[in-house]
Amino acid sequence: AAVSFGAAAQAAFPDRPIAMLVPFAAGGPTDVVARMIAIPMSKSLGQTVTVENAVGAGGTIAATKTARAAPNGYTVFLHHMGMSTAPALYKKLQFDPLKDFEYIGQVVDVPMTLLARKDFPAANFQELQAYLKANGNKVSLANAGLGAVSHLCGLLFMSQVGVELTTVPFSGTGPAMNALLGGQVDLLCDQTTQTVPLIKDGRLKVYGVTTPKRLDALPNVPTLDEQGLKGFDVKVWHGLYAPKGTPQPVIDKLNAALRFAMQDPDVKRRLGELSSDIVRMEKITPAGLRTHLEAEIAKWTPVIRKAGVYAD
Ligand code: MLT
Repeated sequence: AAVSFGAAAQAAFPDRPIAMLVPFAAGGPTDVVARMIAIPMSKSLGQTVTVENAVGAGGTIAATKTARAAPNGYTVFLHHMGMSTAPALYKKLQFDPLKDFEYIGQVVDVPMTLLARKDFPAANFQELQAYLKANGNKVSLANAGLGAVSHLCGLLFMSQVGVELTTVPFSGTGPAMNALLGGQVDLLCDQTTQTVPLIKDGRLKVYGVTTPKRLDALPNVPTLDEQGLKGFDVKVWHGLYAPKGTPQPVIDKLNAALRFAMQDPDVKRRLGELSSDIVRMEKITPAGLRTHLEAEIAKWTPVIRKAGVYAD
């Protein structure tokens, strides 16, 4: 009887709203992607997908919350590549990315941009480097905490330029961006899902993009690579997860809804305008996400160990 009841519950899934946890503050890049895909996913599932921001500790609080949630499909979790850096960055991690989750699929790859508050003294990237070498410890670099991609991008930037800046953590780059716009911090490396409209409106100074090629959305912004930071190449991958033990038929429905969302004309257009690439359909699968996550953990763990950056 228990088995047939379970099967009936799975067939009825979903019969109430689904929470999509986002590990960073509202208004920021991860939140932008979540709210964008939640609309067509709701349409596909016939139930509302509500976005919930569970912020803190570079995304690990929301990951822990997801790992401990009931595995019934009513909790899903959108996270970026921080899922692969967390095991090396956090000594006391309360979840295992490879043991405590089911994988729904990869989502989107998002470039980053290096920005300053509008009235920051350096007019271009050459001037920025000179300015940072002279004033490094007086310059503030905002980020979204250990495990955030803004943090990782900042580390790569500081190590390639050879400077140490004063880092200022926020609960997401949404609030970090507000501080940059308000002139309370100097620099921020952040994803195009948030930054393209602000750059186009001239509300910030932009020094470069983090990809090896210029972006369609920002054709006049040079790459960091072409300005001397050879090999600088950061793009942020994203995945959608559920708690371990979520039944396969439920994962299949969630995956179908994600695939539907990633083919939605409005989602495609909006992500295109933000120079963000929807991943190929074969990656929007449980195996596509799992395989990528494994490779990324293997790639980042030795890099982070060598850099000696971690939280006790
Ligand atoms: C956010 O959504 O706030 C960002 O993805 C945080 C980050 O820089 O990792």
